[in-house]
Amino acid sequence: MDYENLAQAALDAREKSYSPYSNFQVGAALLTKNGKIYTGCNIESAAYSPTNCAERTALFKAVSEGEREFTAIAIAGAPQNGTPQYCYPCGVCRQMLNEFLPQNATVIIVKTATDYKAHTFSELLPFGFGAENLD
Ligand code: THU
Repeated sequence: MDYENLAQAALDAREKSYSPYSNFQVGAALLTKNGKIYTGCNIESAAYSPTNCAERTALFKAVSEGEREFTAIAIAGAPQNGTPQYCYPCGVCRQMLNEFLPQNATVIIVKTATDYKAHTFSELLPFGFGAENLD
């Protein structure tokens, strides 16, 4: 499958990043089972810890609009005015994504719209803790 559109959506979302403290800009684009894309950027706080990552911004936007089923997420992160890099999601975001992404969901790590790595979500969070543990 070609993820160029989703990669470009993550790159576009990165342009909206509010990151005056780290100057590290991240964008994410989450694909629903029905083909809709929800985007998000990182949003920082002067108090630092309330900062929200791009992945969780996209996830919270989608879930708060009633979405529950996702098949892929693209993530584009790099320093402002810096060289593009492969930016992997932080542990907190991996845990939050585990709430909604199936093990076989695709995680696209975006350098450019045509240069990205594709992983399954299970590669990023093996042996994760999830709802099934609470049964
Ligand atoms: N950040 C994300 O938005 N997603 C990631 O996967 C890694 C880190 C943000 C948080 C903070 O605003 C900045 O990048 C530097 O840590």
